[in-house]
Amino acid sequence: MSTNSIVSLRNTDIFQQDSLILHNVSLKINSGEFVYLIGKTGTGKSSLLKTLYGDLPLTKGKGKVCGFKLTEMNWKNIPFLRRKLGIIFQDFQLLNDRNVEENLRFALKATGWKNEKEIKQRIDLVLTNVSMTHKINEMPFKLSGGEQQRVSIARALLNDPTLIIADEPTGSLDPETSQAIIGILHKICKLTDTAALIGTHDFEIIKQNPGRILQCIDGSVKEYSKE
Ligand SMILES: Nc1ncnc2c1ncn2[C@@H]1O[C@H](COP(=O)(O)OP(=O)(O)O)[C@@H](O)[C@H]1O
Ligand SMILES: [Mg+2]
Repeated sequence: MSTNSIVSLRNTDIFQQDSLILHNVSLKINSGEFVYLIGKTGTGKSSLLKTLYGDLPLTKGKGKVCGFKLTEMNWKNIPFLRRKLGIIFQDFQLLNDRNVEENLRFALKATGWKNEKEIKQRIDLVLTNVSMTHKINEMPFKLSGGEQQRVSIARALLNDPTLIIADEPTGSLDPETSQAIIGILHKICKLTDTAALIGTHDFEIIKQNPGRILQCIDGSVKEYSKE
């Protein structure tokens, strides 16, 4: 496995409990690559992404994410893998009982940050990256969907991830906001040389922010070509 490959799967099978969802999946994602994972609903996008972030076990084949071997992963390693990842969901998953700043502070403290000055600087930086500094004191439920997703991108950036994994990040947003969100992700990933794997079934978002495309189809994952 080359040293700059962030994700490497070789002959892996992806399961949900005892159901085989994807068979014989082999793929590589290199440092800084912007990759879409497309496929119709139910084809296994979320299952694959969950396997990559340690939410589903890998029992067959070989897999490595950010230097962590998925097959030998035990629950103790998962927090260390997650610190290398920025994970973004369709439903934002912000804590609704605290404001934007407190959401980000909570995530930093949970990953070991203690110095108050550094915490403040980091929060300010990630909110600047998504143009949300003016909403720092706002409660999440008072924000629009697009704004909530920007905060959740900010949260994903807190620990300088090597890989951003986003599962249908625009799934509950209107087309215009979806483009803006993918545009922000694309720009940040290019600027910081961060790899991204974005699960989506929305072809429109890919047009304006091109990237490599993988497709869940026929029970496996293939490189997608437009021809
Ligand atoms: N928690 C689960 N338990 C059992 N089967 C599941 C679970 N989640 C998803 N599945 C099944 O796995 C298949 C792939 O689902 P999923 O990975 O969510 O696809 P996608 O994200 O592409 O819509 C579907 O057939 C779905 O019914
Ligand atoms: Mg899904």
